[in-house]
Amino acid sequence: MADELKVHLIDHPLIQHKLTRMRMKDTSYKDFRELLEEIAMLMAYEITRDFPLKEVEIETPVAPCRAKVLADNEVGLVPILRAGLGMVGGMMNLIPTARIGHIGLYRDPKTLKPVEYYCKLPPEPEKRTFIVVDPMLATGGSSAAALTMLKEHGAKKLVLMCLVSAPEGIRVVNKEHPDVPIYTAAVDEKLNDHGYIVPGLGDAGDRIFGTI
Ligand code: PRP
Ligand code: URA
Repeated sequence: MADELKVHLIDHPLIQHKLTRMRMKDTSYKDFRELLEEIAMLMAYEITRDFPLKEVEIETPVAPCRAKVLADNEVGLVPILRAGLGMVGGMMNLIPTARIGHIGLYRDPKTLKPVEYYCKLPPEPEKRTFIVVDPMLATGGSSAAALTMLKEHGAKKLVLMCLVSAPEGIRVVNKEHPDVPIYTAAVDEKLNDHGYIVPGLGDAGDRIFGTI
């Protein structure tokens, strides 16, 4: 049955170019990490496009005036461990005042279900806009579980940012969290029998941390 994927595709040429280099199997760990940070920064620029502004009174060297600043400084970044960590540095370049939460989940290789092992979030989650980051949205189990954990801790405003997504994972998050917008740089073809995204880029955590 045909269904519509609800996803924001960020397909800026610079992002596509860098993502192609990340996909290549001979790209070094060093380059992979650097490219991920650069793409995360470019994606952060796009997803903060709708952040609300407020006017404040300031004085320039020439005259007083009203000017705009971000209305909401209460951003929380939440990488899903491990691979999400590779996106934090790039995003912090643009949102240096963000607080960082951590959610530890790994995918059981047999069942492909997420297993929770860590959760530490900034205070007053109900007041923040959380950006949950993970390079890979495959079955969607890990991202959906992370969003559920955040909601159980009181978070109300959530955004999911993934580098590469499979249609299967987008469908799961759309169904379980219809209130959460998904931003991604690529929607790939499918999952293989091991739950890997095809063509994807392999195991993101292993390629970031050199644990292959
Ligand atoms: C990877 C990836 C996601 C998850 C995606 O993590 O970083 O968190 O798999 O798969 P899913 O959408 O099917 O849940 P992994 O479990 O390999 O853990 P790691 O980051 O510690 O390597
Ligand atoms: N996790 C990864 O790191 N890569 C995939 O393709 C799927 C899950």
